[in-house]
Amino acid sequence: MMLEEINSPFRYPGGKFYARKLILEHIPPHNCYVEPFAGGASIFFAKKKVARNILNDVDPELVNCYLTIRDNVEGLIELLHGIPATKEMHHHYKNMYKPTSGLERAFRWYYLNRTSYSGIMNIQNCFWGYGDKYSMQPKNWPGHLRKCSAKLQGVEITCFDFEQVIAQAPDDAFLFIDPPYFNADQDKFYTHSFTRESHYRLERVLHLYSHRMRFLLTYDNSPEVRRMYHWSTQMLDKEWNYTISRTDDQSKKTTVKGKRSMGKEIFITNYDAVAGILPLQLPLERAGFGLAAAN
Ligand SMILES: C[S@@+](CC[C@H](N)C(=O)[O-])C[C@H]1O[C@@H](n2cnc3c(N)ncnc32)[C@H](O)[C@@H]1O
Repeated sequence: MMLEEINSPFRYPGGKFYARKLILEHIPPHNCYVEPFAGGASIFFAKKKVARNILNDVDPELVNCYLTIRDNVEGLIELLHGIPATKEMHHHYKNMYKPTSGLERAFRWYYLNRTSYSGIMNIQNCFWGYGDKYSMQPKNWPGHLRKCSAKLQGVEITCFDFEQVIAQAPDDAFLFIDPPYFNADQDKFYTHSFTRESHYRLERVLHLYSHRMRFLLTYDNSPEVRRMYHWSTQMLDKEWNYTISRTDDQSKKTTVKGKRSMGKEIFITNYDAVAGILPLQLPLERAGFGLAAAN
């Protein structure tokens, strides 16, 4: 089975599906790949796996669903079997169904994610949003889930706050960092709020550990973000087309029935992502990283 480039199992708000090629072009060679804010992990699914791969997200339901896809995909497929994508079922699984196990929680989460508008899982904004013509149909879910499960084999999947993941990332790891946007109201989409203080905390932790890892950070392009990361090596302005459709089916390459928009962000890196990517020079003493080491 070809595992290299597949789509995320999920529809995900803020997902980087449409920017994946642009992002992949700027990723340096690496043996350890880390996503502290995995969400739908569209970059992980779009790239080649490396020796060590770590996906993390603070949302326990998302992480439970990843773990189920990795470790018990056939159980998940069995629960999904025969359940149509209908508004009534969406209502039932959103409001009435009470899962009693990790497998049932994963089943509910996956079903709602595939049938909700833009995959938004924050319960206040989780509305029916599926169309047979432009969404992945339930008959195609098992095959796609099996491919995702195969790619997730051996992947470390964790549910921590980003700070712990970045602090514990192995030396010489490459981190793709895609936090909630700085200026948009992300609380509508995600289950855990990310405050201005969280953005500043991210900047501090990246600065602290920058000397022993490489990162590519994506953000909305704002003067405050640019000021925060004045110490980075590069800030690249990037634009890409994406489609907002009622159902945003990632498996279709077409833009039928969708509204085309332009994504505008900055890629912030602590390495030269344009001129060439040299091996990271780690200091001889690699233990005891403190603020002094990062300066
Ligand atoms: C912009 S989304 C990531 C999208 C992803 N790159 C994709 O392609 O689908 C940001 C993610 O950060 C997660 N998140 C929010 N606060 C977090 C925290 N303190 N630590 C780790 N993850 C967090 C959210 O649950 C959400 O899944």
